[in-house]
Amino acid sequence: MNRRYLKAFLVAISVVAAFVILHYGCQESKDLVAGDEAGRVYVAPGTYDEFYLFTSGGFSGQIGVYGLPSGRMFRVIPVFSQDPEKAWGYSEESKPMFMTSHGFVPWDDAHHPKLSQTDGIADGRWIFINGNNTPRVARVDLSTFKTAEIIEIPNSGGNHGSPFLTENTEYVVASTRFSVPIPNKDVPLNSYKENFKGTISFIKVDKEGAMNVEFQILVPGFNYDLAHGGKGPSHGWAFFTSYNTEQANTLLEVNASQNDKDFIAAVNWKKAEEYLAQGKAKTFNTSYFRNYFDEKKHMGISEENKSVKVLIPEECPGLIYYLPTPKSPHGVDVDPTGEYIAAGGKLASVIVVHSFSKMIKAIENKEFETTIDGIPVLKYESVIGGEVTNPGLGPLHTEFDGNGYGYTSSFISSEIVKWKIGTWEVVDRIPAYYSIGHLCIPGGDSRKPWGKYVIALNKITKDRYLPTGPELTQSAQLIDISGDKMKLLLDFPTIGEPHYAQSIPADILMKNSKKIYPIEENQHPYGIKAEKETRVVREGNVVHVYMSTIRTHFAPDNIEGIKVGDVVYFHITNLEQDWDIPHGFAVKGMQNSELLIMPGATESVVWTPLKEGVYPFYCTDFCSALHQEMSGYIRVSTRGSNVAITYGTGK
Ligand code: CUA
Repeated sequence: MNRRYLKAFLVAISVVAAFVILHYGCQESKDLVAGDEAGRVYVAPGTYDEFYLFTSGGFSGQIGVYGLPSGRMFRVIPVFSQDPEKAWGYSEESKPMFMTSHGFVPWDDAHHPKLSQTDGIADGRWIFINGNNTPRVARVDLSTFKTAEIIEIPNSGGNHGSPFLTENTEYVVASTRFSVPIPNKDVPLNSYKENFKGTISFIKVDKEGAMNVEFQILVPGFNYDLAHGGKGPSHGWAFFTSYNTEQANTLLEVNASQNDKDFIAAVNWKKAEEYLAQGKAKTFNTSYFRNYFDEKKHMGISEENKSVKVLIPEECPGLIYYLPTPKSPHGVDVDPTGEYIAAGGKLASVIVVHSFSKMIKAIENKEFETTIDGIPVLKYESVIGGEVTNPGLGPLHTEFDGNGYGYTSSFISSEIVKWKIGTWEVVDRIPAYYSIGHLCIPGGDSRKPWGKYVIALNKITKDRYLPTGPELTQSAQLIDISGDKMKLLLDFPTIGEPHYAQSIPADILMKNSKKIYPIEENQHPYGIKAEKETRVVREGNVVHVYMSTIRTHFAPDNIEGIKVGDVVYFHITNLEQDWDIPHGFAVKGMQNSELLIMPGATESVVWTPLKEGVYPFYCTDFCSALHQEMSGYIRVSTRGSNVAITYGTGK
């Protein structure tokens, strides 16, 4: 038995054991196994050896997919980026995915991947990621590793604090990085304090994953930075860091660093649901797009929404509280028990950990310092659970190992600091090379971390890799956390800037991987089911080519009767029904990108020939021994010619 099968066998035994324990009602069962309606089963920490790692591409707008512990890259998923490899943003079907209230926006700055979860544990259905610049949230389907949906967020000036989740993926939460006038309007920039506001958005996710901006909360014009949903006892709450409570609109590096404490906003979203049901929300007119990919039609579909519900804290007591937090906090991370809320004060000298139960008591006892725009500010001493002293310089983010420890990244001192929950003592530290931002432990922000590794996501690599011109690669570092001391195992470069990452055991995703699109289910309006349906149809200046691919030919592969200036749509159906047999398509002089069509799918690309002549086309993916033979010709005649449309293969 080779290693791989042995591992699979061991995992299978563990799953069976977990089932047995669950079945016989052992007291441990709740700790060992969580399941969802689809019958997925999750196993306790320490059971898994192989993981997927999803890193954000930052300004590349993509997600990088790596294997752990190898650090080898498997795939780049284009999300907020055009990608010629997969024609994402070039094919007619994918273009609608980039529609926004600002028009076609085929790029964004993608920061935080977040795996969907059930019962506070990553379930492997989807991974969400934010678009920071033109506020959006995307959902990637992890059976296809393909972007399935992108929703725009109205009344937002930058979507950094997103896309964090509630315990059962009831909501994706999102907060404005930059406050702006809401609704947006033309005002002097120095009227910031009167005119600028922030929003916190709750995006509902239905069973199929479809997103809808269910409601927003209008909040004071601070900069809202990061977020996390509560879990266990704090389920029903979500937490958001803010900085620039000074409300500066220029030279923020100085002006937004004045206050000793800024705030974590604690939102009671169950309360928000009550207020919504009571009709307390105001309707704001706006415009934002929801774009989703219909897997049966193989088509992106764009919808514009015209209004959104907004709750005003002054009118909704108990909806939101501020927790004073030193100093310009960045990350806000909830420990596996749901009791502790750790804040990374990037200018603070300690890691502040708030206590959820103390917060609830302080609310009951009305231990308020003051009130800002209807939002009570709780007393710092009343909510503080502990302080980790000597956490390194510039603490940013914390993840948890499920064994009672937190791991905090410190940017300025470039290290990971391990500390004990409850005693708050630092027990270990390890340098990162260099300038760590986020860090990731498999399941490390969930109710049941899988632990085993922490991955440092580093901004600067200087001397670690071969130079590549003025810009050097960013990188990740794999660190073993299975023992008392952290041990560096591996460095590997990453694509784009890895702001944040999420990791999940390979077994959870592998079994759901889609292999083909069944051809009989293909409902693409220009799709075909068999080679005999291939055809070329002229409608005035527009020509539709219904083409098929199968090893190793196109049908048709000879086309005549196209004229200069025609708008030619190639609708190509890949008739293959075997795993990993895509075919590609490209015509000489095409003004966009190739297509790469998955088995059973249909994709379209548009081409306008500018000159008469003969144009070869070919398959761009090495699909078989006769891949080089997979090609064809298109004859293009002058605009006034009377060459009739003819087409065929093997005639
Ligand atoms: Cu089909 Cu190469």
